Amino acid sequence: MAKRIEDFTVKENRRLNNDLFVLELTGNNYLPSLKPGQFCQVKIEGNPETFLRRPISIHDVDYEQNTIKLLVQIAGKGTKKLSSLRQGDILNIIYPLGNSFSLPAENTQILLVGGGCGVAPLLFLGKYLKSKGYKPDVLLGFRNSDRIIEYDECSGIGTVYLTTEDGSKGEKGFVTDHKVLKDHHFDHICCCGPESMMKAVAGYCLKHGIECEVSLEHLMACGFGVCLCCVVNTLNGNLCSCIDGPVFNTKELKW
Ligand SMILES: Cc1cc2nc3c(=O)[nH]c(=O)nc-3n(C[C@H](O)[C@H](O)[C@H](O)COP(=O)(O)OP(=O)(O)OC[C@H]3O[C@@H](n4cnc5c(N)ncnc54)[C@H](O)[C@@H]3O)c2cc1C
Ligand code: FES
Repeated sequence: MAKRIEDFTVKENRRLNNDLFVLELTGNNYLPSLKPGQFCQVKIEGNPETFLRRPISIHDVDYEQNTIKLLVQIAGKGTKKLSSLRQGDILNIIYPLGNSFSLPAENTQILLVGGGCGVAPLLFLGKYLKSKGYKPDVLLGFRNSDRIIEYDECSGIGTVYLTTEDGSKGEKGFVTDHKVLKDHHFDHICCCGPESMMKAVAGYCLKHGIECEVSLEHLMACGFGVCLCCVVNTLNGNLCSCIDGPVFNTKELKW
């Protein structure tokens, strides 16, 4: 798929909590067809320390409105700068980058598992799967009730199950502790979140014969296969997370 470098206009910057926000961006050209799991490289203006673009997943797409949404967590200078964007500001992005989550066979029981900001690529994925006739459920894990994000948005996809580490909302513990995993049968799990969480989910899937895809958030520089700084060790050799990923079937990964 051809890559584009385009200016988008900030339609809204919606704050979710202290360090998370959703940027809604209007395309100045018509959006190409985007796939869930793909990401964009965002240009951070005005600071030589943030010279490299920052990779951010596509959180949501509205072709009628010609908008995309990015869910961003403030991690350092680049994302901090993004958090200060206001309506009408211009953001330059390179997109669409990377591969996408796969479309399993019809009637596959799919569970989307997101930890914290890892819900970012899963909202778009859930809506996409629903539009294709699948009935995915969603399992979200957060540290505590104050950290819960995008719950209502995910409710439009299917049943949303919830864990918090301190038990302040939903079931207490990690996503892999939730009883939905014992009570329901799932054939396929798509997951994004902290690496330790994705490894735990991958381990659960391996044990129970469930297909598992994860979206890796390795450090990146170029975003299109030139600098080799995002290499992932797989059974098929060293692959670039930016072009061969960021979505990998966990059976492929040497974790
Ligand atoms: C394919 C992909 C999709 C991503 N999607 C999202 C998304 O939808 N929303 C979002 O908020 N973030 C996402 N990230 C992570 C995001 O790119 C980084 O948080 C961001 O680049 C940090 O930039 P910064 O200038 O704010 O922080 P920096 O000053 O560059 O770094 C601050 C701290 O964050 C760490 N860090 C930087 N990049 C990453 C990374 N990729 N993973 C883990 N830690 C990192 C650094 O090591 C450092 O400790 C994604 C990353 C990848 C590779
Ligand atoms: S980020 Fe440069 S090769 Fe992947």
